[in-house]
Amino acid sequence: MAIRPILEAPDPRLKRISAPVERFDDELKSLVADMFETMYDAPGIGLAAVQIDVPLRVVVVDLQDRGEPLHEPAEGEPEPERVPNPRVFINPELLDPSEELSVYAEGCLSVPEIYADVERPARVRLRWHDLDGARHEEELAGMMATCIQHEMDHLDGILFIDHLSRLKRNMVLKKLEKARKAA
Ligand code: NI
Repeated sequence: MAIRPILEAPDPRLKRISAPVERFDDELKSLVADMFETMYDAPGIGLAAVQIDVPLRVVVVDLQDRGEPLHEPAEGEPEPERVPNPRVFINPELLDPSEELSVYAEGCLSVPEIYADVERPARVRLRWHDLDGARHEEELAGMMATCIQHEMDHLDGILFIDHLSRLKRNMVLKKLEKARKAA
């Protein structure tokens, strides 16, 4: 396993359309292991293979079972425990996006330190392959629905900032460039 460098906007390699996975072999397993290691190290909750310069339709997600909190933790009360829940989606396909939309403040490991509200379908049906090539289908809602749509955008060369107005996106890109020059 290895932590791989994450491409950052406006790197043109992030604009590529990722190709479907055809071989469910050891190479794929080691790519996915590297993706998890890279994502946890960053740290982040989702990563598409293209973000580590591998343009294949592979997504990893770990929301660490962050459900909706039942109540605000009282003072001195410990934070709810985060339980690792690694998920792999290969060749994911979106079906039946709901008309109902939800808004989350999104961020992205390829757009560091920028967060912005993005509106997306609140529920989707997802079809995908697992690491062994078996097919799965599941109804997703809440943060998982948003996260998978964000990651699947990466497979088609789209960043969450592409959903913002041109004015806002240009502001973000300038901010990124400034941060890069300062680094
Ligand atoms: Ni992202």
